Amino acid sequence: MKRIVSYVVLAVVSLATLQAGSKPTTLRQALKNDFYIGTALNRGQYLGTDEKAFNLVPKQFSAIVAENCMKSEKLQPREGEFFFDDADKFVAYGQKHKMWITGHTLIWHSQTPRWFFVDSEGKEVSKEVLVERMKKHIHTVVGRYKGKIKGWDVVNEAIEDNGEWRKSKFYKIIGPEFIKLAFQFAHEADPKAELYYNDYSMALEGRRNGVVNMVKDLQSQGVKIHGIGMQGHVGMDYPTIQDFEKSIVTFAGLGVKVMITELDLSALPTPQGNRGANVSDVAAYNEKINPFKNGIPAEAEAAWEKRYMDFFKLFLKHKDKVTRVTLWGVSDKGSWKNNFPVRGRTDYPLLFDRDYNAKKIVQLIIDEASK
Ligand code: XIL
Repeated sequence: MKRIVSYVVLAVVSLATLQAGSKPTTLRQALKNDFYIGTALNRGQYLGTDEKAFNLVPKQFSAIVAENCMKSEKLQPREGEFFFDDADKFVAYGQKHKMWITGHTLIWHSQTPRWFFVDSEGKEVSKEVLVERMKKHIHTVVGRYKGKIKGWDVVNEAIEDNGEWRKSKFYKIIGPEFIKLAFQFAHEADPKAELYYNDYSMALEGRRNGVVNMVKDLQSQGVKIHGIGMQGHVGMDYPTIQDFEKSIVTFAGLGVKVMITELDLSALPTPQGNRGANVSDVAAYNEKINPFKNGIPAEAEAAWEKRYMDFFKLFLKHKDKVTRVTLWGVSDKGSWKNNFPVRGRTDYPLLFDRDYNAKKIVQLIIDEASK
């Protein structure tokens, strides 16, 4: 009898240990059957000068995107002079740790070098010249990482809040077909790569409709587009979860993948009229809108956690549509939100604190995914 009891006890204990052992302890493990969980990386983080991030990222994340080093001003600062040192190291880091690598971004109105749009006398170039420059840039960059970078943000932020075309230089000089051309050039350079359209404020009805019309138009012309990236620079008071959900469902209805590509939740008050993420739309500093200089109070952090969880619950609910959720940075220390839309604030938008400790939210997400 005694022997039987001890066998049973032993069996129960081993089972419990086994279960405890298989319990996920990182975001990467917990979400592995749901969607890629990614982060944007700055230079120090993939070069290794920022040792904490360098070691933490592959444990917690299954996908990466470059915060800046693959933008055209970095990759082709002067016409025909490509600079790939940083991007190569970024890609090698991702490959080493078997992370999904997204290229960000080929065609965007911001962080494009000035030379792109003018000739040697400073005069605006013709449509033909600009198309040729786009083609060369896209072929060179996508071609270099063929088979390594599996997905590209081909066009970033081409549509306004009200659904109209953004009046960027690309739009003004080429017309709306610059989008189609960008996708075609990317497809030529790597026919196996996934190609995405990426934008902010995607929960707004006007932009949602504008994107839907654009994607339908591309599809009707046989242009390859595989996904829509919803940036997800969100605040405590915008957008509503319902509006965000509507966009996920509507975009997925087009037969493309949906990705949350630049998630961060600002814990700070939103200055009037600054709900977007257009990098040039900045507001003036004042003390009132920088309330947590010396730390975030427990109550504010709890509200922030609850809102983050509302988003993660939504993503998990739609895991059949959402293929990747990427945070726009690892730790609060390096977040662009400390300087956007107001310079010099102390924000708390990410999952790891200023010393790279996992915040409570990390465990909450792991628990939610493991339910
Ligand atoms: C931001 C970077 O985080 C900053 O470091 C840089 O100074 C400006 O750009 N939408 C995008 C990203 O698609 O590329 C932007 O990244 C944030 C808004």
